[in-house]
Amino acid sequence: MKKQILSITFMATTLVACGPGVPQLGKASLEDVIGAMTLEEKAHLVIGTGMAGFENGDSAVVGETRSLVPGAAGTTYPIPRLGIPSIVLADGPAGLRINPTREGDTATYYCTHFPIGTLLASTWDQELVENVGRAIGNEVLEYGADVLLAPALNIHRHPLCGRNFEYYSEDPLVSGKMAAAYVRGVQSNGVGTSIKHFAVNNQETNRMANDAQVSPRALREIYLKGFEIAVKESDPWTVMSSYNYVNGVYASESPELQTTLLRDEWGFKGMVMTDWFGGKDAVAQMKAGNDMLQPGYDKQYRDIVAGVKEGRLDETVLDRNVKRILELILRTPRFKGYPFSNKPDLKAHAAITRQSATEGMVLLKNENKALPLSADVKRVALFGCTSYNFIAGGTGSGNVNRAYTVSLLDGLKNAGYETDDRLKADYEAHIAAEQERLKPEDGKFSAFMPVVLPQEMTFEEARLKELAAQSDMALITIGRGSGEFLDRESANFYLSKEKRQLMQDVCRVFHAAGKKVVVVLNIGGTIETSSWKALPDAILCAWQGGQEGGNSVVDVLSGKASPCGKLTMTFPVRFEDHASTANFPVDLKSDIDIVNANKGEKKHSLKDVDYTRYEEDIYVGYRYFDSFGKEVSYPFGYGLSYTTFAYDKASIRADNGLYTVTVEVKNTGKTAGREVVQLYVTAPDASGTNKPEKELKAFAKTRELKPGESEVVTLKVNTADLASYEEASSSWVVAAGNYKFLVGASSRDIRAVLDAGVEAATQKTNDLLKLQVPLATLKR
Ligand code: BGC
Repeated sequence: MKKQILSITFMATTLVACGPGVPQLGKASLEDVIGAMTLEEKAHLVIGTGMAGFENGDSAVVGETRSLVPGAAGTTYPIPRLGIPSIVLADGPAGLRINPTREGDTATYYCTHFPIGTLLASTWDQELVENVGRAIGNEVLEYGADVLLAPALNIHRHPLCGRNFEYYSEDPLVSGKMAAAYVRGVQSNGVGTSIKHFAVNNQETNRMANDAQVSPRALREIYLKGFEIAVKESDPWTVMSSYNYVNGVYASESPELQTTLLRDEWGFKGMVMTDWFGGKDAVAQMKAGNDMLQPGYDKQYRDIVAGVKEGRLDETVLDRNVKRILELILRTPRFKGYPFSNKPDLKAHAAITRQSATEGMVLLKNENKALPLSADVKRVALFGCTSYNFIAGGTGSGNVNRAYTVSLLDGLKNAGYETDDRLKADYEAHIAAEQERLKPEDGKFSAFMPVVLPQEMTFEEARLKELAAQSDMALITIGRGSGEFLDRESANFYLSKEKRQLMQDVCRVFHAAGKKVVVVLNIGGTIETSSWKALPDAILCAWQGGQEGGNSVVDVLSGKASPCGKLTMTFPVRFEDHASTANFPVDLKSDIDIVNANKGEKKHSLKDVDYTRYEEDIYVGYRYFDSFGKEVSYPFGYGLSYTTFAYDKASIRADNGLYTVTVEVKNTGKTAGREVVQLYVTAPDASGTNKPEKELKAFAKTRELKPGESEVVTLKVNTADLASYEEASSSWVVAAGNYKFLVGASSRDIRAVLDAGVEAATQKTNDLLKLQVPLATLKR
């Protein structure tokens, strides 16, 4: 008999075989590989390799691993004797997050910081998002990572959610389409994505133990819809389950969510991993179809092994999860031995981020043609701390270790504008002093936490007069940082006393001197605008445009690029106007342990912390404001251009359940530009049947149109897209009747109304994720 066992390795309690004849991943069948695995090896494979600072951890600091690609968020457990390599999982949505330097190595590993999710979505341009994804995926590949932990597509339920900057929109269609485009782009490189956080992770406060109590209807129509679109349209390699509970069950422990809905109903074929340290019961997670637990810790390993030995976990369930992990590994560049270069083309990617950021900036106001800046504007008086300390993106796992950030000051200089040196020196000294004053206490997570921005400077009248006399215009930046772990405070939404003062004084003095004032918003989520928007001549919402942000803003200000982004969320008058405010942790500071809240007994006492009741139901964002006739500051879908567009010849054709709307969009102004066209639908008797006044069903963006040029835009909607979710029958139901198809430049700027008769349709679904407690949902 041929000798098969060359060596024997002692592992915990089991003897294992190595050498020829032992099934090898990629050569033997998965069944044979799994058949050759010990229980201990399986239990290791379904959890990650851990993190430092935690039981059995592998990395130097929280949020990072040490091996393979230092700074990546996680790695999988290698089993060399079976030919199973360790693969690398790394954040995140705005670009690859790894350590930029390595011990004993003079090379650098900087990644490109691309625009934040909110900005990408504001382009309304799926092709552009796919392109950005392609560039990000190339860095994943060339730096030796295998799966990017992105995109993030939770709904902007409330303006104060600390991670809205990573997410796309208050609307699920926009979220789903953008995520799908991003996934297609990243995965075109032969690396994976992880769409996250599945599902209903809409607040950071107590995110690890908060119970999101949501009606099945709101789940289906609002919170799950984007994931459904992304799964069906882009086939992501993995899904990341969220930390929170959904109706009493941890998302990662919910078979209804991770198996019945995701796989059985939507046809997801990939692997599910937890968010880092998410959930509580490893055995329940395994059973739910949450295949991998990241980053993994000893207790989970012990629980899984004991679970099988004690009969609480069927080994075939473990094998199923192991198989999905092996299927993932088989697809990865690391398994295929891709010779990564550690040298992605950072220059080319800088050009991509610079250009893409201009496309998602939203021109909110432009009076007296303040923008683009006229040729005689040379000297700019630059106000606001963030003008000098521009914010590239948010903090936490959504951050990217970039080589540089182009500030607005740098951007202006690069384009040949002059700024005031004394003003710059004053700001720099002030910022340095403020940074010292506000320095966070050194703690485990301090590097990961949102930065506290300096208090604004105000100026004496005489100084402003002097600056106004010497400058051709004033620019004021309003900046807001936010990030993982914390929701924004209410003060973060409103302008501070100093900022308001600065705005008033600069506008008064510069206007008196006949000089214009432009405000740039360097923000990740909405802020208050209605009380001050009358003051400046123009407002550009520049979002956080990544490392080339300052250049991108100046490309728009100077007219090199024409603004063509539109809002993917409403700018409310006050954040309190959102119906979700009644059930959101506004300024709720509690003593939550941000990494251990999911250990121990579940607490149920503190509203909006232990549990959050989604009583606004489907009335999120414009669905609420437009259905209940509320005033807003800037509506969903809104955004100006340097040119104007006329909509003409709108028509609709119905053909066997497919509604095709066409409209001719003509550039009627004097500069080239692109227009985002939105198609909303109003159901028959919407108010009587408790449906939103209008819902976005399709959108498109024209190519760049020269003055006088036009393009016929086509928007398609299927009967099934018109369905609402009926809880009583757990079905998607399309009521028969006359539907209105609204062609709009924004949700409140409808240019054409078309009608079409629609036949009834019903699609039965699984009856799942039911409320465990009654919820007084908002109705029209
Ligand atoms: C975040 C995830 C991220 C993971 C790994 C978690 O704290 O919620 O979005 O992918 O860390 O860094």
